[in-house]
Amino acid sequence: MWFQLDRSSKKTLTQQVYEQFMQYILEGNVKVDEKLPSTRELATSLGVSRNIILEVYDQLVAEGYLVVRPRSGTFVAPGSLFQKNNENPQMKSSELLMTNNQNFIDFKAATPAMDHFPRKVWGRLAKDVCYESPDYLFGYQPSCGLLELREEISRYILRTRGVISDPKQVIITSGATQALSLITDLLIKQNKLVAIEDPMTDEMRTIFSYAGAELCPIPVDDKGINTDCLSQEKPPAFIFVLPSHQFPTGVTLTIQRRIQLIEYARQHNCYIVEDDYDSEFTYEGTPVHSVQGLDPDKVIYVGTFSKILSPGLRIGYVVLPMDLLEPFEKLKWFSDRHHSTLEQMILTKFMKEGHFDRHIRKMKRIYRKRREALVNSLKAHFPDCEILGHSAGMHLVAELKGVNVSKLMNWTQNHGVLIYPVGHYSLATNHYAHQLVLGYGSLSVENIEEGVRRIKKAVKSYQEGITS
Ligand SMILES: Cc1ncc(COP(=O)(O)O)c(C=O)c1O
Repeated sequence: MWFQLDRSSKKTLTQQVYEQFMQYILEGNVKVDEKLPSTRELATSLGVSRNIILEVYDQLVAEGYLVVRPRSGTFVAPGSLFQKNNENPQMKSSELLMTNNQNFIDFKAATPAMDHFPRKVWGRLAKDVCYESPDYLFGYQPSCGLLELREEISRYILRTRGVISDPKQVIITSGATQALSLITDLLIKQNKLVAIEDPMTDEMRTIFSYAGAELCPIPVDDKGINTDCLSQEKPPAFIFVLPSHQFPTGVTLTIQRRIQLIEYARQHNCYIVEDDYDSEFTYEGTPVHSVQGLDPDKVIYVGTFSKILSPGLRIGYVVLPMDLLEPFEKLKWFSDRHHSTLEQMILTKFMKEGHFDRHIRKMKRIYRKRREALVNSLKAHFPDCEILGHSAGMHLVAELKGVNVSKLMNWTQNHGVLIYPVGHYSLATNHYAHQLVLGYGSLSVENIEEGVRRIKKAVKSYQEGITS
């Protein structure tokens, strides 16, 4: 049992322990009739005086949450489990902790630096678009999106990612999420099997399972998705891959595996869906080109502005082989008609006037500094730590030898830091007991350094805990 106490808070320590203890009981984290630690034990583990715990226990007994049984101890009273109606069932305990305590340092991956959104330029362009656009643009438009924006994107992905497309093949979507959801609807009508990388983010995985797909997890090794594990007997409708910077492992798919993947798709008449979510930020070597460029008829390429600009904009795109264009546009139309035309106009201007390239260059410098701070802090505090998958993106993997990172989470939360074990993203394999995925995109250099210091302290407590 642990509670996060903030000694700089206006609330007294007694109040903080009382409120969190009560919440702990109401949420059912302790069972009815479960014996609670003695006041002395709890005071020692929280690092507060015993009087504080005595006072809290007395209060909770008076309110009926706890009962004292003479000569046995203090127990949770029957009937004290209660789920509040207004609680968001989707909210994970880590998110609850975050909202309860802003002092947590959260290494959640795939979160960009929202504090660097180009508000001034975007605001100016929004005003121009609103004043200058002809009236017809305020009405319904085709579901595929504005041609001008699709032209800009088509040029940009050819130049930077080697994606081959006619602008007509580029469809504007509400983020990569909508693109993937509609692709699944379209492709699993006859065959419900979808091959996915294992490990992969549960947020992406559930897009497919919610759409009714049956998932076939394919292990990822140091060369990317293991193509030898793809079924010859039961091929999937499509294979979903993150070839430039796998999530969470950070691995880049080798050219040999890319070729094998395409040969498999050709042989079994299925598609490859390539999610290219953060390859703009490559720090070492030149960015690897897309798989789509190797076979535009077999690869569906999905891109997003969520990492470069902001997830709140909800703008992404999909580059489709010609034969899928018409059915996809229909699905998109019946799903939400089309993406906001005004937002598309603003983004078009943002790209045309060169702000987009400038913004990427600026963000790359910022993320490079944050990445350096994380790598240096990890090396300083954990000299044996192996750092993997850090050549691109906004996250890396740290292997802490001898530390079970799932168990470590109990201690890190106590030290005010949120970490994410790679193993939590894995469906079938069990290879990641010592690996953590650490996102640094939204953390300042100071927070990164402090966060690693806190992880170090947590590891110390963890090691003391398992040896005592
Ligand atoms: C692997 C991956 N691709 C793409 C995205 C972006 O999704 P969207 O464009 O819907 O914001 C995310 C978001 O976290 C992601 O984890």
